[in-house]
Amino acid sequence: MDFVKLKETDYNTMNINEALLKRKSVRAFLDKKVDDSLIFEILNCARYTPSGTNTQPWEVAVVRGHTKSLLDEQLTHAFKSNTPQHPDYNYYPKEFNADFKRRRIECGLALYSTLGITRENKELRLKQWAQNYTAFGAPVVLYIFTDKLIDKGSFMDCGMFIQSIMLMAEHLGLASCPQAALAEYPDIVRKQLNYPQDKLLLCGIAIGYEDTDAIINNYRTSREDVNTFTRFFD
Ligand SMILES: Cc1cc2nc3c(=O)[nH]c(=O)nc-3n(C[C@H](O)[C@H](O)[C@H](O)COP(=O)(O)O)c2cc1C
Repeated sequence: MDFVKLKETDYNTMNINEALLKRKSVRAFLDKKVDDSLIFEILNCARYTPSGTNTQPWEVAVVRGHTKSLLDEQLTHAFKSNTPQHPDYNYYPKEFNADFKRRRIECGLALYSTLGITRENKELRLKQWAQNYTAFGAPVVLYIFTDKLIDKGSFMDCGMFIQSIMLMAEHLGLASCPQAALAEYPDIVRKQLNYPQDKLLLCGIAIGYEDTDAIINNYRTSREDVNTFTRFFD
């Protein structure tokens, strides 16, 4: 495919620290097309992500337009009709340690309270969660696949690749949301995109322009201080 060459003004001027601090998960997007050249540039840089013995164990499906609408519809239907989820891998352990559990609960509570949704209002929480399956209205989803034969090391490589994509999106003035929810029904995605069974679906990444008026995008997560997770040794 041929892509328009990007101009210097297509990039936000930012240092790596700014990109890291500015990136956030965006959950409402403008109805504004993202040019394919931007997606190409994101991937053209993200491919330099390191991987063990340079295996580069990732594959990307860039989904937009009609194909995205078809997937939005099928995934939303699967969720709303309580179709059992059968992801290709377990994202979370069966049991969390106390710290992980506390942070997870804080994260969920803060998100829903930004929207004025109480813990008891299961209906509204489910309605909000269901927005995942249309990628929160983002015009583009990058579905990230790997090979079913990989082990934990390659998961690490793919995680870094995903972060490279999100930081490049930031650099180009685009917002993103990594979404494990988009990998809850991998057979639907594989069938629609004609990917074989031996391709493991890791997640989707919603990409688009942030709707800065949407209340949900005001929500920012916190982080632990460096000292809580680091020990220096001499
Ligand atoms: C691999 C991955 C999968 C995620 N899946 C979802 C998801 O399905 N839905 C969602 O709303 N957020 C999802 N998130 C976003 C996290 O909730 C978010 O990254 C975390 O709360 C930190 O917030 P921040 O990204 O705004 O810094 C996911 C994040 C990662 C890294």
